[in-house]
Amino acid sequence: MTYSIALAGKGGTGKTTLAGFLVRYLVEKGKGPVLAVDADANSNLNEVMGLEVGETLGEAREEMRKGVSSGMTKDVFMEMKLQQAVVESAGFDLVVMGRPEGAGCYCAANTLLTQYLEKLIDNYRLVVIDNEAGMEHISRLTTNNINMLLVVSDPTRRGIQTATRIVDLTEKLGLRIYSRGLVVNRVKDGQEQAVEQAVSECQLDLLGMVPEDTCVEEFDLCGRPTIEVGDDSKALSAAYRIFDKIME
Ligand SMILES: Nc1ncnc2c1ncn2[C@@H]1O[C@H](COP(=O)(O)OP(=O)(O)OP(=O)(O)O)[C@@H](O)[C@H]1O
Ligand SMILES: [Mg+2]
Repeated sequence: MTYSIALAGKGGTGKTTLAGFLVRYLVEKGKGPVLAVDADANSNLNEVMGLEVGETLGEAREEMRKGVSSGMTKDVFMEMKLQQAVVESAGFDLVVMGRPEGAGCYCAANTLLTQYLEKLIDNYRLVVIDNEAGMEHISRLTTNNINMLLVVSDPTRRGIQTATRIVDLTEKLGLRIYSRGLVVNRVKDGQEQAVEQAVSECQLDLLGMVPEDTCVEEFDLCGRPTIEVGDDSKALSAAYRIFDKIME
């Protein structure tokens, strides 16, 4: 059985950065094989991980919708495309979903894509899903259960309220989520108590806080893969403590 961890939260709170850290953690702890799924239409998980992406699953679906070249069944075509879309790296693979299909599209191409994605996921012990703020893709993966939802917020009341709303949304969407918790990221020195107070007023469990970290900022600004920050990064260490807790 694959264990899946999805990250959600308001825009710009650090979902992708923490998804990258989580993949690094899981690989380092020998928990693999790990599949990283970039479920953001404006995908950039690959940049955080220092990987080039080829075709996205959304592009494969569009090609299939336009028609499969002669002599190939749709299944064979989709299987081939899916294999091409998986980027292999050290200890983990990455797949990028790309642009979501139009609202309410349950076309054959989309159904096939979902089926193949599920088959792909079955090959891994762990799946980390980086979502966009809108949760578009995650809502389509209805047959997949999510073992752990990490809701990421910045240290603001509005961010924490959004986190609560996201959890409500997952319930409305009927997603099966077994466990969930809040991570407050980019916490500045001295804000800890106020964050705890604000979180205590919502329904979410606080898994931990990740401090604002200049190492992360510098890597980002220089275009270096954020997952390669040194072990002395305080954001990385704080994230690892949270992951230790959830992977117990
Ligand atoms: N703990 C941290 N300290 C400093 N900078 C951080 C930290 N976490 C994330 N960042 C920076 O904040 C910015 C937003 O992070 P990230 O892209 O991970 O957020 P996101 O939630 O995935 O955003 P989006 O909603 O656009 O997908 C990036 O520039 C990232 O480098
Ligand atoms: Mg992101």
